[in-house]
Amino acid sequence: MRDSFGSKIGLVLATAGSAVGLGNVWRFPFMAGQNGGAAFIIIYIFFIVILGVPGMVSEFIVGRHAGTNAARAYSRLSTGRQWKHVGVMGIVTSTIILGFYAVVAGWCLNYLFVSIGGDIGGDASSVRQYFVQFSSSPVSPVLWGLTFIVLTHLVIVRGIRSGIEKFSKLMMPTMFVLLIVLVVASCMLPGSMKGVTFLLNPNFSKVDGHVFLAALGQAFFSLSLGTACLCTYSSYFSRSTNLVRSAVQIAFIDTLVAILAGLMIFPAAFSVGINPDSGPSLIFITLPCVFHEAFAGMPVLGYVTSILFYALLSLAALTSTISMHEIGTAFFHEELNKSRKTAACYVSALAAVICIVSSFSVGYMPGLQLFGMSMMDCFDKLTAQLLLPLGGFLTCIYIGWFASFPRVYEEFTNDSTVNRSLFRVYLFLVRYVCPTFILAIFLDQFGLL
Ligand code: PFF
Repeated sequence: MRDSFGSKIGLVLATAGSAVGLGNVWRFPFMAGQNGGAAFIIIYIFFIVILGVPGMVSEFIVGRHAGTNAARAYSRLSTGRQWKHVGVMGIVTSTIILGFYAVVAGWCLNYLFVSIGGDIGGDASSVRQYFVQFSSSPVSPVLWGLTFIVLTHLVIVRGIRSGIEKFSKLMMPTMFVLLIVLVVASCMLPGSMKGVTFLLNPNFSKVDGHVFLAALGQAFFSLSLGTACLCTYSSYFSRSTNLVRSAVQIAFIDTLVAILAGLMIFPAAFSVGINPDSGPSLIFITLPCVFHEAFAGMPVLGYVTSILFYALLSLAALTSTISMHEIGTAFFHEELNKSRKTAACYVSALAAVICIVSSFSVGYMPGLQLFGMSMMDCFDKLTAQLLLPLGGFLTCIYIGWFASFPRVYEEFTNDSTVNRSLFRVYLFLVRYVCPTFILAIFLDQFGLL
């Protein structure tokens, strides 16, 4: 019999684990900070509600109806065989993301171990020098990235209920506790309220078309939409799972974590007068300096904070990489009739190749470029700017216009027992509103809007 999630809380935590990741902890706070603070947060929440939740429900419908891997799932709700390619595209997308995401996750793991040894910290130039030295060494960053893939692999081979679900039930609450402790520590620093005000003060003068599009792109990445991840996870949901309620709960957890991450980073940074930047240098250069300075008089607290922070990042990344891995594993397992262990080995091997190439391209072999960008940036742009929105767009078109209407209704309402009054609203969003907005980001990034 096919494996499945054993409890409602388990499936919500596992799927929220996929959504909550590096995207929440380092990407969201800075997008909010740069794009008008609370004004951005309001727009972001608006998109989560009118696009993110319907998008999630659509993937859930495809996955739960089929009860199989993403490639087969997309051909189950209509007669057109060509929709299978949307599922296959999701599998390719998630495996690419897994490969380069593991590089950054591996850096987090390295920093966790270095923090435990008490070796990070000090002035800005020594922290920067450490990061440059570490990331450009030929062996160390690759080994940490591969270690991350192995950790992911070890959870995956245990299956859904005793692997993914058990791990998520343990790790998600742990991660939440770490986050709360860090938010409290950050907000208690002298001068921290300036950071809170910066994040929560709505500045509508910064809002223009690009801010809307940035919020939309972030909402997609953060909810793991468009990668067939939600479709794969929902194939393990039970018939009684309320898809709309689960989507709302997951979106809520994901948004809450993103806002809390902002309340962890900005107050600490503002309390020592450091203007936080974005991307890798934020996590691996700026924040170690912030911890060092903010807790200068309390070295033990600084030491503990640093460990908790990198533990938080590593856990958030791990629950996400697990979901990316599962998409390909389910595919190889079911389509090629391989054992789950062998299927997982295929995915780990593919991800390992992408991880090594990405890691070299941003360190040891900077010449490893395509279209003038490092391979890591190429993979990132290819997935985040092209494949994710395309996957989301095609899923909405599929569900809204091509899938069997009675089947979609049955899934949405659990055979006419729940959410009946919401179905018309959902259908309107998925047919017209979601595709229009997604098309807008698409055209905008190619300068066509
Ligand atoms: N949602 C994850 C994050 O915010 O970091 C990233 C992600 C996970 C993207 C799973 C795609 C995916 F399939």
